[in-house]
This record gives sequence, C-alpha cells and structure tokens, in this order.
Amino acid sequence: MEFQNQNKIRFFIKGMLSACADPGIAAAGIFHQMDTSWQSGNPYEKFMGRWSHLVAQQFLAWMAVPANRRWLDVGCGTGTLARVIAADYQPDEVVALDSSPEFIAYARQSLPHPALRFKVGNAEAMDLSANAVDVVVSGLVLNFVPQPDAAVSEMLRVTKPGGKLGIFVWDYADGMEMLRYFWDAAVALNYDAITLDEGVKFPLCKKGRLGSLVRKAGLNQVEDVSFEVATAFQSFDDYWQPFLGNVGPAGSYTMSLDNKDRKQLEARLRESLPIDETGAISLSARAWAVKGLV
Ligand SMILES: C[S@@+](CC[C@H](N)C(=O)[O-])C[C@H]1O[C@@H](n2cnc3c(N)ncnc32)[C@H](O)[C@@H]1O
Repeated sequence: MEFQNQNKIRFFIKGMLSACADPGIAAAGIFHQMDTSWQSGNPYEKFMGRWSHLVAQQFLAWMAVPANRRWLDVGCGTGTLARVIAADYQPDEVVALDSSPEFIAYARQSLPHPALRFKVGNAEAMDLSANAVDVVVSGLVLNFVPQPDAAVSEMLRVTKPGGKLGIFVWDYADGMEMLRYFWDAAVALNYDAITLDEGVKFPLCKKGRLGSLVRKAGLNQVEDVSFEVATAFQSFDDYWQPFLGNVGPAGSYTMSLDNKDRKQLEARLRESLPIDETGAISLSARAWAVKGLV
C-alpha cells in the first residue's frame, strides 16, 4: 500500500437503504458495509484522474475566470483541477482542500507550484474565513459528501459576494459508461451489489439535481450544462487493471471479492464491453456541471 495512514469513508448501506426509493431493493433487507478508499494517488490517477482531467479542462474554460483571482478547490483529490488552474489561469492563490491526508500529501509532492496551498479539511465545515476567495470549484466530490447541502453552504460562505461557484459530478446513473458497464456487470452477477451501484446510491448524480441543490442554497444566475469526454481504453487490461487499485466504490467492491468472484466479474465485463477488432474500447463519460454567482 502506497500510504499507511488510514482515511476511509464509511458507507453504511443500511442507512442508504432506508432512503432508497426502490422497494425491491429495500425489501431485500440487505445490510452491507464497505469502505471507499481515497488514499493512493498513483492508482487514483490511473483509475479516474486521467478522465477527470479531461472534464476539468472543459469545465474551467467554461468557468471563464480571469487572472489574479484567489481560488478554492474543494475535494481536490490528487490535484486535478488545481493543476490546470495553476497552469492556465494565472491565479494569485489556489487553496486545494481534501479530507484525504494521503491525497493531499501526493498532490503537494507532485505539484510544487508557488500559488498552490494544499490543506486537509472537510467540505462540510471548512477552516476558512468568510469571503476568503473569489472562486470556488469542486469536481466529482459532492456525491461522496454525506451532507452536500452543508458543503454548498460552506462554499457560499467562503466566497466573496459577486464571486463564482462551479461544481461538477459524474452522471453515474447513465452517461459515465466506464462505471455503468462495471456496475451492470456486478449487479447481474450478484443483485446485492445494487446497494453499492453509484448510479443508485448517489441521487445527486441525476440530471437536474445539482442545479436544484445550488439554487436552493442561494446561488444566483445558475447555469446547468453537461460535459462529455471520450474515455478511450487501448485494451481490456487498460480498462480493467485500474479497478484492482482499490480506489473509489468500484475499486473497493472489486477488491472485496474473492478471487473466483473477481474472475467472474472480469469475464462478464469482457463479454459486455464493446471491444473492437483491435482490442480497444471506446466509451464516453458525462458530467453534470453548474456555475453561478454568489
Ligand atoms: C472522485 S475524487 C475527485 C478528486 C478530484 N476533485 C478530481 O476531480 O479528480 C473525490 C474526492 O473527494 C474527497 N472527499 C470526499 N468527501 C469529502 C469531504 N467531506 N470533504 C473533503 N473532501 C472529500 C475524497 O477524498 C476524494 O479525493
């Protein structure tokens, strides 16, 4: 393991089931506890960072923030957004915050830029003063925060009046095909896995939900869009190996299986994925994004 320090988000599926709209699932009475691992920078980059980077570029261009601004990146992970902001948007400062000390250590080490300041912290209660920054951005994070409304309130609190807030999340339920194929295969083999399917578990990933959340929190002039990026895998291994890195819900699920069940899942994915004659797999990934003024 790359880092020894444990920082795991506990998912108590029992609580999720009580909120689940599907009576079939609730009736199953499944109790399942799993850890979602956000602690290894290199595996994250292979699993998700290479795709979140593509969305980050489109999203930041859409945010249209001029130079010499103070930014906050909430749930920065390995530094996907912060890296692009520092390289392309001439910030005065970027505070990049994440609850994972391991990701913060990885980002700090791999992005030694004078404008970047990395910080361990919780999106729901940030150790930042009111009106501290001009722009807040957050990519692929809010689905994992237990109280996303509290996190959005915090983002508004720390942004100066007239400043900008922009957020995006994957469309796990439909357009994030890499994970859609994964969970469809996992559920086909074991129906209990539906309780871990990010498309079921995270209602915020559905169309229009993020916009409703930020409007309700008081963000003004809200615009909702979607971004679609190509997720091109050179081979089945290029798709599958990153799931063995134990990152995020799908990686945690894969590594929770015994060898036989993991092989079965791999075989199912080999059958269901659209592998072309060269062995490559061309998928796409959609993110829902919002921006507005504070
Ligand atoms: C899918 S990763 C996204 C990372 C990065 N923003 C990107 O676009 O690649 C989700 C991140 O949210 C962080 N996270 C989850 N809950 C959090 C919370 N309550 N406060 C701060 N960060 C949190 C995780 O540690 C993880 O780094």
